[in-house]
Amino acid sequence: MSNIVVPAIINVDVEGAVINRHLYGHFAEHLGRCVYGGFYVGEDSEVPNEGGIRLDVVEALRALNIPNLRWPGGCFADEYHWMDGIGPKVERPSMVNTHWGNVEENNHFGTHEFLALCELLGAEPYISGNVGSGTVKEMSDWVEYLTREGDSPMVRLRKANGRDQPWQVRFWGLGNEAWGCGGNMTAEQYAAEARRFGTYSRNHGDNKLYRIAAGANSADYAWTETLMKMLGELGCANRPAAFMQALSFHYYTIPGTWQNKGDATRFGPDDYYATLAQAARVDELITGHANVMDCYDPGKTVGLVLDEWGTWWNVEPGTNPGFLYQQNTLRDALVASLHFDIFHRHADRLVMANIAQTVNVLQAMILTDPDTGALVLTPTYHVFEMNKGHQDAASLRVDLPTGVPARDTLKTVSLSASRKNGEVLVSLSNLDIDEPADIELDLRGGAVTDVHARILTAGALQDHNTPATPAAVAPRTHDQVTATAGGLRVHLPAHSFVTVAGRLA
Ligand code: AHR
Repeated sequence: MSNIVVPAIINVDVEGAVINRHLYGHFAEHLGRCVYGGFYVGEDSEVPNEGGIRLDVVEALRALNIPNLRWPGGCFADEYHWMDGIGPKVERPSMVNTHWGNVEENNHFGTHEFLALCELLGAEPYISGNVGSGTVKEMSDWVEYLTREGDSPMVRLRKANGRDQPWQVRFWGLGNEAWGCGGNMTAEQYAAEARRFGTYSRNHGDNKLYRIAAGANSADYAWTETLMKMLGELGCANRPAAFMQALSFHYYTIPGTWQNKGDATRFGPDDYYATLAQAARVDELITGHANVMDCYDPGKTVGLVLDEWGTWWNVEPGTNPGFLYQQNTLRDALVASLHFDIFHRHADRLVMANIAQTVNVLQAMILTDPDTGALVLTPTYHVFEMNKGHQDAASLRVDLPTGVPARDTLKTVSLSASRKNGEVLVSLSNLDIDEPADIELDLRGGAVTDVHARILTAGALQDHNTPATPAAVAPRTHDQVTATAGGLRVHLPAHSFVTVAGRLA
């Protein structure tokens, strides 16, 4: 049987919007075993650590060039009181994590530990403030505590806790999911709150805040419109985006119902295609929110942030339902590669995205064994690693002149491309379960040399990595790329993700 051949045109000499590296951002919530057991094991653990932070996790994430880490939530952020998490650990008050498993939170991982983690990772911190149950003063003090130099009440407190120099913390979230766990507010109520919290979160010295308003759930474009309108009400061109520099929205890939989301590893072909079709919907959602934003901000000065995305399955049998622990298969990897192609196409408005969540929760990069401490890199991890060359690269438009194969509404071939420092990187996904495809890349405006390619695939979409088989789904060299008169021919086996890199001649 002959392969499907898909022609694709890439103008390698026409640079599009820069793909913000923050599209490859991460998220760590006080939820299940993400922070405790995942990132943080405490100083007395047998797992090698620095100040309680797991060094194997740090090493694995550094290989992804992770640009930012969002913390402490999620829903947890709106019940977190940061002052409980500073000072000597024995004196820190504990609380009940009512959102996630009703477990006791001892606050041993707090502000200093989070900033130490970011320093080890080489990632920018992104802190979500507490708008739901906190006060404006609490958030304003937190910003001062972290970012102010010299002398002030919060600076003295920070110094007393052992840190003389301020940190640079640009990214601040003004609450989280204010329409739900973050306070059950209407868009109008939240807009008023965001204005107050944003106003009193101050720039100290050269630390210029990038305030991210809590945005819509999925396709709630009215929420986005309410926030964007508010900019005009405050004087539009005179004070554009004074209290918020970006707004967010959240979108999870959940092909089942909220009660029965589907299994992470036990699924059939229909479940698979339904999942990928759900994932592809993020394109429509980004377009919808961006269109609303364009009406009020045609110059694109306000960023769109998707600070929670990824698959959400039923928890693994026998685990705490409030801990959101799920396995991660090749299917999850293809969900991720499809998201990134879409993100790259929207690089002019979408400035940040954070997968939920980095370790042991939802679509994680890393799973750790609670008993042995063993660490496993998931298939999704490998997509982030194979794609990291797109960070801060100029996007290149990809045209598919004869259309692409499809299963119902799902296009089963997806591509994106970028260039940076004289290198071109092309990412290609074949989402079809059974059919291979050959992509004829017509590279216009330049030729590439020193071509090398990698592939992520497996015998079955359900394949995943475990401590016993850590490389069941792992990238390997792909030698089925051949030079043609116009560019390259790339063979994509069924259900595979391939990256092709080359130097511009
Ligand atoms: O990521 C898990 C949860 O999903 C977050 O806490 C919340 O913001 C969202 O509903």
